[in-house]
Amino acid sequence: MQDSILDAVGSPLVQISSPEGATIAAKIEGFNPGGSAKDRPAREMIAAAEREGTISPGDRLVEPTSGNTGIGLAVASAARGYDLTIVMPESKSPERRKLLKAYGADLELVDGEMEDARQRADRIAEEEGAVQMGQFENPANAEAHYRTTAEEILQQVEGREIDAFVAGVGTGGTITGTASRLREEFPDMEVVAVEPERNAVLTRELSEGSSDESDGVLSTGEDEYQGMGPGFVSDLLDTDLISSVETVALEDAEAEARRLAREEGILVGQSSGAASVAARRVAERLAKPELNCSEASTDLGESAASDGGPRDGRDDCPLVVTVFPDSGERYLSTGMFD
Ligand SMILES: Cc1ncc(COP(=O)(O)O)c(C=O)c1O
Repeated sequence: MQDSILDAVGSPLVQISSPEGATIAAKIEGFNPGGSAKDRPAREMIAAAEREGTISPGDRLVEPTSGNTGIGLAVASAARGYDLTIVMPESKSPERRKLLKAYGADLELVDGEMEDARQRADRIAEEEGAVQMGQFENPANAEAHYRTTAEEILQQVEGREIDAFVAGVGTGGTITGTASRLREEFPDMEVVAVEPERNAVLTRELSEGSSDESDGVLSTGEDEYQGMGPGFVSDLLDTDLISSVETVALEDAEAEARRLAREEGILVGQSSGAASVAARRVAERLAKPELNCSEASTDLGESAASDGGPRDGRDDCPLVVTVFPDSGERYLSTGMFD
């Protein structure tokens, strides 16, 4: 029995359909109590502020967020006794608004994108004395992934080497925290960032001076994915960790999310679809087709490894680990599964 819902944070690592000669495994973050990876930084940012004496139960918190961090903070605020205001762009899905209200948070919608939400939250903090958790700058965001996401992955791969880690970038907390811990174990591991094709600020930042933009594909634009590609490079993102960047168009990400639901029984959101597309590209590049890697269990509820059978030898297969940040239930009203 757990003492609090906040102790129930954690998610499974699941093998997904992989190209011949490689294995892709995804961390299914929709399993967290608030339904996304953001439960981790939400819990850690509040705990860190409590340790520093900046906040104590009963205080007012404010945060600009496209939704998942808000929901994570709403879960943690309900469990710890904080009064929470969330500022988010009007364009985000109605499920997110309803969820925030269900957890008792106050919601302020702004006309515009995340940058506008950030400015409004700054004003509320300044004028009304609310404390911001500051997910785009707060080291506790990345620290949460360093201490939990990465540690879980290390246990879940059961001694297998990880060849590449692929993750979508919003605040950069997931990729910075998780990759820095995994690199301590696997110094040669590739770290691949994923961002929207039509809002590719990271691609531009990391290839400064290149002429990639001339084809009109790589440009900054509106924040079309929910949670990924905020339109600026976050202070928290450690760009030195990144080996390469993959861009994925929203329609390809959504098609992949539909495929994951229909063919694999994994219901995930847009940025998970993008992570899956990018992870497959990386796995195809690293694959050793002469190896038998993607042998799946044929018995329900029983791993093929348990009898020392077809999984033998798979430990040599290139392993790509990715993160599916949230559940597809959060996107039903957008029509992406229709
Ligand atoms: C759905 C979704 N995908 C991806 C991300 C990116 O994660 P991070 O902010 O850790 O970079 C987020 C973050 O809010 C998200 O909500």
